Order: sequence, then C-alpha cells, then structure tokens
Amino acid sequence: MSRDEVWNRIRVDAEADAGTEPALASFLHSTVLSHPRLEDSLSYILAGKLESSAMNALTLRQLIDEALREDPAIGSSVREDLRAVLSRDPACRSYLVPLLYFKGFHSLQAYRVAHYFWTHDRTALALYLQSRISEAFAVDIHPGARIGKGIMFDHATSVVIGETAVVEDDFSMLHEVTLGGTGKVGGDRHPKIGRGVMIGAGAKVLGNIRVGEGAKVGAGSVVLEDVAPFTTVAGVPARPVAYPANAHPALDDIGL
Ligand SMILES: CC(C)(COP(=O)(O)OP(=O)(O)OC[C@H]1O[C@@H](n2cnc3c(N)ncnc32)[C@H](O)[C@@H]1OP(=O)(O)O)[C@@H](O)C(=O)NCCC(=O)NCCS
Repeated sequence: MSRDEVWNRIRVDAEADAGTEPALASFLHSTVLSHPRLEDSLSYILAGKLESSAMNALTLRQLIDEALREDPAIGSSVREDLRAVLSRDPACRSYLVPLLYFKGFHSLQAYRVAHYFWTHDRTALALYLQSRISEAFAVDIHPGARIGKGIMFDHATSVVIGETAVVEDDFSMLHEVTLGGTGKVGGDRHPKIGRGVMIGAGAKVLGNIRVGEGAKVGAGSVVLEDVAPFTTVAGVPARPVAYPANAHPALDDIGL
C-alpha cells in the first residue's frame, strides 16, 4: 500500500469492481490496476481520450507524463479535485468514478496539462491540446486561464472559460457556464471568480468583473456586474436575490 490515500481507495474500489463485474476487469486493469501511481493512471486515461489521427496515445502520454513530472502541483490539484467531487456530488460515491467517467474531471485535468505547456513557452502544443479537449469533452478552456484546486465541473458540457479568466480554489460549476468576454474590450477581459463560489447551470458571467468569495450565481443568469462576496445573484441581468447560508456554497453537497 502506498501512503497516497486517494490512490489506495481508487485501487481498492477498482479491484472490487473487477471482481464483481468480470466484463469490466480488463478495462479496470488497463486504466487503474496496472499502474503504480494515480499520475500514471490519469495520463493513460487522458491519452486514450485525447488521441487522434494527428497525435497518437503514446506521444500524448509522454507529454502528459512530462507535465505531471515537472509540475507536482498538478498531482496535488488532481487529488483535491477528486475530493471536491466526492464531497459535493451526491451522485458520486467513490474517487474511481470521476477518474474513469466524468468529463468535467477529465477536461479539467487535461486543461491543467495544457496550462503547464502554455506557461512553459510551448503555446502551439497548449493550443493543440485545447482544441482536442474541446472536441473530446465539449469543454473549451483557454490554456492561459488560471484555475485553482478543489474544483468541480459537474456535467460540464458546453463550459467555456476565456484566456484571462481567473478561478480561485474550491469552486463548483454546472454545465453550460461561460466565463467569457463581453466582446467589447480586449486585453484582460474575462471574469475573476473568488474562492468557494458556486455557479449554476447555463449562467453566463461576462467581462472583467469580480464574483466575490462565497457568492452563488443562479442557473440561467447573465452576470454583467461585480457580485459582492457571500451574495446570491440570479436573473437576466443578474441581481442580488439572497445571501447563502454557507460561507462557501461551492463546498455544499449541491444535491443535483
Ligand atoms: C440561485 C439558487 C442557487 C438558489 O439560491 P438561494 O440562495 O437558495 O435562493 P432562493 O432559492 O431562496 O431564491 C431567492 C429568490 O431568487 C429566485 N431565484 C432562484 N434561482 C433563480 C434563478 N436561477 N433565476 C432567477 N431567479 C431565481 C427565487 O425565485 C427567489 O425569488 P423570490 O425571493 O422572489 O421568491 C438556485 O435557485 C439555483 O439556481 N441553483 C443552481 C442549480 C443548478 O444549476 N442546477 C442544475 C442541475 S443539473
């Protein structure tokens, strides 16, 4: 047993599933049980999802391994993101499930790899990865965006995050959320999202505005102005409607 609690639990669950469902045994062996570390399992899974006629899985795996090896903070964030999903998503009962199946988790980890290359003067490769992530997962995150740890993208289909967006730790967001520009200005043009924020499905947060720590954004809202910390906004355009009971609503079990 390693001292990595998240990885130990993933292996225990994979062994149990392989025992009770023989049809999945080979899949669980190749994705999880044959690997010594979570990082190795993750790079195998992501490379398989992102391979294409332009770049095979072996080459992708070497690149993903390189990013994970050179920046160990990515591995820490991966574990924090798995903890986030397990604690907040009532439909998720193990770390194994997001690792294998959740495209919100896959797209976020693949973005972390693309961001590594973006910040290490390999922007052409980072943009290639952004394009493949968008095709494979329907999640379009510019590799220049900065995203913290303890993040959950639930469902995640149609999420868009722009180049100059910044997302602090412990953030939760549903599908079809845009953190985008207004189309009216250049430069630093995307939202800044504080710690512990929760953004509901379909919300559009537009412009270089700040959503304060612990704020909640209702589903379907269009947010065009700063949101005060610890405030719930909703509607089109979004207006304050309530004050969250929890200081960091992203950490709530979102009960979906
Ligand atoms: C905003 C939200 C987080 C609730 O926050 P809350 O602090 O508990 O707020 P309340 O439910 O008390 O609602 C406060 C007011 O805002 C209104 N409101 C709530 N959500 C709204 C929304 N998305 N759009 C417009 N108005 C909304 C309520 O009707 C209520 O209005 P009232 O005071 O006139 O009665 C929740 O409604 C929401 O949108 N969650 C996102 C869930 C999601 O994305 N689900 C997708 C699952 S796949």
